[in-house]
Amino acid sequence: MASILIVFSTREGQTARVVAHLSGALDAMGHRVLATSLAGRFAGRPESHDAVIVAASVHAGEHGRRVAAFVKRHRRVLNSRPSAFVSVSLSAAALNEVAGKAAKTQAQRFLDSTGWRPDRVELVAGALRYSRFSRPWRWILRFAQRRFRSELEESGWPDLTIEREYTDWNELSAFASRFDQLLGPGRRGRAASDADTDA
Ligand SMILES: Cc1cc2nc3c(=O)[nH]c(=O)nc-3n(C[C@H](O)[C@H](O)[C@H](O)COP(=O)(O)O)c2cc1C
Repeated sequence: MASILIVFSTREGQTARVVAHLSGALDAMGHRVLATSLAGRFAGRPESHDAVIVAASVHAGEHGRRVAAFVKRHRRVLNSRPSAFVSVSLSAAALNEVAGKAAKTQAQRFLDSTGWRPDRVELVAGALRYSRFSRPWRWILRFAQRRFRSELEESGWPDLTIEREYTDWNELSAFASRFDQLLGPGRRGRAASDADTDA
């Protein structure tokens, strides 16, 4: 059993949902999970945990200043224990390789700029909350969808004017299991220990 810190940053709430799902999965494996938002006063102390996951969403190609500052501040500790970066975006929902590449590039740029080398990088498809956007934003998205329809379709981008959640919750559970595998025999959760015993 490990103590796992999950630090996250969200704007429209999808990364918070992703983190809640991950926390639930890791908790069910028997780990002690502390999930904290970077919007709060206390983001947690990575040095007090056996493993750390940082989750953040992408807006205008970036993961945001707060999350970058947190990772830079704790880079040494993050690089010294099992860690994973979860990048939530719409590019990760793209149906073909060209658009999907943007998700990889965005995540790699973040890691290069912070100097963090996580053991796992998980690109998670987010959600488009079209109905929650302000009128000007809806207008911009409708305009972009009309103006660049063929380019967007060709590159596999989802329709920007349709409200939809693209997150694959089963894939996220599978990621939680892969993260559990990273923790080493003494620290792995119940499911993994049971499997070891059965083998
Ligand atoms: C204003 C805005 C800009 C966005 N820019 C990007 C982007 O550059 N690349 C991308 O892949 N997704 C982009 N997205 C999609 C978000 O990453 C996606 O909606 C994600 O689920 C948001 O997660 P959150 O609710 O945790 O903030 C953008 C969304 C909004 C609303």
